[in-house]
Amino acid sequence: MSSIPTTSSPAREQWSGQLGFLMAAIGSAIGLGNIWRFPGVAYTNGGGAFIVPYIVALLAAGIPFLLLDYALGHRYRGSAPAVFRRLSRRFEWLGWLQVFICFVIMTYYAVIVAWSLRYTVFSFTTAWGNDASAFFSSYIGVGELSGSSPAYFAMPVSGVVIPLLIVWFFGLYTIARGVSKGVETANKVFLPLLVLMFLILVVRALLLPGATDGLNALFTPQWGALLDHRVWMAAFGQIFFSLSIGFGIMLTYASYLRSRSNLVGTGLVAAFANSSFEVLAGVGVFATLGFMAWARGVAVSDLSGISGPSLSFVTFPTVISEMPGGALFGVLFFGSFSMAGLTSFISIIQVVAAGFSEKFGWSTPRATLVCGLPSAALSFVLFGTSSGLYDLNVVDAYINYIGVVGAAIVACVGVGIVLNRLKVLQRHLNLVSETRVVGIWWRVMIALVVPALLGVMFVQTVWSYATAGYTYSRNFEAVFGWGMLLLVAVATAVFTLLPWRTPVDSHEPVDLDVLEGVMR
Ligand code: PHE
Repeated sequence: MSSIPTTSSPAREQWSGQLGFLMAAIGSAIGLGNIWRFPGVAYTNGGGAFIVPYIVALLAAGIPFLLLDYALGHRYRGSAPAVFRRLSRRFEWLGWLQVFICFVIMTYYAVIVAWSLRYTVFSFTTAWGNDASAFFSSYIGVGELSGSSPAYFAMPVSGVVIPLLIVWFFGLYTIARGVSKGVETANKVFLPLLVLMFLILVVRALLLPGATDGLNALFTPQWGALLDHRVWMAAFGQIFFSLSIGFGIMLTYASYLRSRSNLVGTGLVAAFANSSFEVLAGVGVFATLGFMAWARGVAVSDLSGISGPSLSFVTFPTVISEMPGGALFGVLFFGSFSMAGLTSFISIIQVVAAGFSEKFGWSTPRATLVCGLPSAALSFVLFGTSSGLYDLNVVDAYINYIGVVGAAIVACVGVGIVLNRLKVLQRHLNLVSETRVVGIWWRVMIALVVPALLGVMFVQTVWSYATAGYTYSRNFEAVFGWGMLLLVAVATAVFTLLPWRTPVDSHEPVDLDVLEGVMR
């Protein structure tokens, strides 16, 4: 079975096996989104009823798109720009768009992981004392800013520098070592540790008084929410972000798989593992919030700060100070949060490093440094400063809801309709996998359903950001939101136009008729 013909360049790196890839894929998927985003999103969008749009989004869009990413990376064996160029020269830019989206994301993702690492250490002594909110503001230096209409404030925050250096060093070192020695090893260490620590945390949380009230708050279905289209959009947004699809990440990771790899099986396992962790995080977070409400004698619905940075860095520290054995709980929470973040962080760097390395013919370490050092510098200058939290909120909203969603729509329509490649990709998926379950349903989803749904989301978001803005002052968003998107577009154009230094066009994808013969 090992004699499947392939003409891809012999030097391409590979995972040591399917398990290594699976762990990396799950490591990328399980991230901050699972822990601080899912519980809050589920709670505010119908509670238990959210499970319906969530599962629909997972089956109708998440898994089909994940398989598209896998199929593209595996068949055309390259970084995002190489893959899209091999599909058609007219689409190379889409690969660069994904690369630069990842470039932007890595600049701020690193900062959140850095805060979290620092908080792991703070946890030992519950250093935030009785006022976690004031402590967090002063830790990230935000106290020096005026409340609701922030401006860029270039004051570097000393407490962030060292953890941020550690995060960047770790990230760049891991990627420079290559996929099997670096990425795979990191995931094989961190992922089991993360799951173990988080399980202990959840059990502890369930034993707290008030935990059941928290779970009831999260899981009691509000069926009326199903009639609200925003609830459905929230579910699709959550699935895309959470599975890391549409960013070029899964595409890049899949390009390092051997010719014969069970793509479909692996995709299903990765998707369900990610969603299971999401539900687990929901249980852990809401059991803890239930305790908080109990301790104050209020209802869970009266609590604020139940998602995003305020959940992790204000609400959780507050609860931790109030519970017996809080220090250990804090270490478990921030430790697992940091590990979840690190394994996602490296997957983003990989997209960028692979793109640079293939275009310019650079070694992996060199490409990693060339893209990593400027990104790290930006990360300090933009997000490691007093206005870091605000900068980060705006950049995150615009890059994800406009950049990523836009790129995903183009990918679906481009591959599915303009280039009409879904039949080939479907056959590829079925031939290399052990099961032949990918059918016409998949093509319909990718070519029609997913882009239509994402299209609605995209138009609504662009409209609301353009007319009402996201949340801060117009000027601030003009620079950090639209301005940043413009820079991404310019970088995409420039890098698409630069000449390739490797023989990108000489790649011949596996001949499916021959493959079919071998498999028989
Ligand atoms: N999937 C990751 C999460 O849930 C987020 C992520 C998105 C990571 C994009 C990398 C790139 O947090």
